[in-house]
Amino acid sequence: MSRPYYIAGNWKMHKTRAEAAELAKALVSQLKDGKHKYLAAPSFTLIETVAAIVKGTNIRLGAQDCAPETEGAHTGEVSVLQLKDLGVQTIILGHSERRHIYKEDDALINKKVKLALQHGFEVILCVGELLEEREAGKAEAVCETQTVKGLEGVAAKDLDRVVIAYEPVWAIGTGKTATPEDADAIHAFIRKVVGKLYGQEEADKILIQYGGSVKPDNAAQLMAKENIDGALVGGAALKADSFVPIAKFA
Ligand code: PGA
Repeated sequence: MSRPYYIAGNWKMHKTRAEAAELAKALVSQLKDGKHKYLAAPSFTLIETVAAIVKGTNIRLGAQDCAPETEGAHTGEVSVLQLKDLGVQTIILGHSERRHIYKEDDALINKKVKLALQHGFEVILCVGELLEEREAGKAEAVCETQTVKGLEGVAAKDLDRVVIAYEPVWAIGTGKTATPEDADAIHAFIRKVVGKLYGQEEADKILIQYGGSVKPDNAAQLMAKENIDGALVGGAALKADSFVPIAKFA
């Protein structure tokens, strides 16, 4: 089964508007002949700036989170309606920093996933185990629970707007990458979980990105694996010099 590659940059809580504009312009010019699917996901305050630059290009516009409700008394939150208004196409949900620093649980993440899909967005649902969970032999169980609960109530017809990102928490921002073999094994497992929920055809189609210290020098080996369909890149997404070689891995 040949699936397209999808390389996404999660800019996290970095950059001012001027810095974001500079990066977005560099990506637009250096990726215009890129052959894969691309995404830039800046902070909320930068979205409008980046939107004006990536509009009409091959770089999709992403957000890093959304509120679980469309409007109301939710101080500090940002709604899917507000994101749509800015031209956001994709929302990253369930990132490990949301799960572990801000204590988002599977039920909350699932609510956001369903709301984002209902409003026409593509969703990147992040799953992944902590180091102690991996060491206790629980990596698969954790990824299964997060995948099953994250997708609860999601209709098969909406699954073509769902991407899963496997991000082992111990590999995020640490310089430690899962070996391509270890990552591929979990990706294959997650695909099997999706197959149990939605059938083999959907499982074969769904894109599963790997995230966790993806760099220009390890991207190609990861992407060469059967079940790895792209990357969700943090640190290396902050500079065109490191994101572009990942996005154009050979
Ligand atoms: P990293 O982050 O590439 O800096 O490890 C990945 C992520 O958190 O999406």
